[in-house]
Amino acid sequence: MFNVILFGAPGSGKGTQSQKIVEKYQLKHISTGDLLRSEIAGGTTLGLEAKKFMDDGKLVPDEVVIGMIGNLIDKNKDAKGFLFDGFPRTIAQAEALDELLKKSNAEINVVIALEVSEEELVTRLLGRGKISGRSDDANETVIRSRIEEYRKKTAVVADYYQQFDKVKSVQGEGSVEEIFELLSKIIDAVI
Ligand code: AP5
Repeated sequence: MFNVILFGAPGSGKGTQSQKIVEKYQLKHISTGDLLRSEIAGGTTLGLEAKKFMDDGKLVPDEVVIGMIGNLIDKNKDAKGFLFDGFPRTIAQAEALDELLKKSNAEINVVIALEVSEEELVTRLLGRGKISGRSDDANETVIRSRIEEYRKKTAVVADYYQQFDKVKSVQGEGSVEEIFELLSKIIDAVI
């Protein structure tokens, strides 16, 4: 099993690049943001709870997210591998993910970190907000709050994986194709 984490701040291009990677390498895409938005759309209790945090640009509590991921990994034990997008976002989530993968004798093989300046992140997300209908893209205050959560709680997740020498950083500014080429080179070297 080959498992990769696509890591980066909100708007760094995780979702865009994930689509291309899962197609090329036939991995199962796990995006906690997409999972949470589908819970919201379905009007579930979990979705209603998560929405309060997401609309404020705050992280959803660890136990909610970890529970969702655990179910999904269990259901996809035959997958060739997983691409995690937007997860893990805290050290507790990273530790839980290691434990979940261990049950399938698997591990995270590589963490690819997309590096994008804050100015560019805000520009991209405000731009998408005009068309996406995503409530957390609607205004700059919420966007900045998401970036702040990333700096406070998520950036340290890269340090967690760095201790196992698993992090590769990539310049996330440039064309989507250029960045995809860089990501492919990293994956080809590890897979
Ligand atoms: P989530 O859905 O994960 O959103 P995010 O991390 O804020 O990331 P985005 O989807 O906004 O950005 P992205 O990096 O995927 O970039 P994208 O490719 O879309 O999370 C949303 C919320 O859910 C969180 O705030 C939190 O509340 C909750 N949540 C989710 N996971 C959680 C977890 N594990 N724990 C707790 N809470 C959790 O691109 C963005 C824009 O830029 C697009 O318009 C795109 O077209 C454009 N773009 C992409 N690449 C380029 C490029 N190279 N050049 C120019 N524009 C580009």
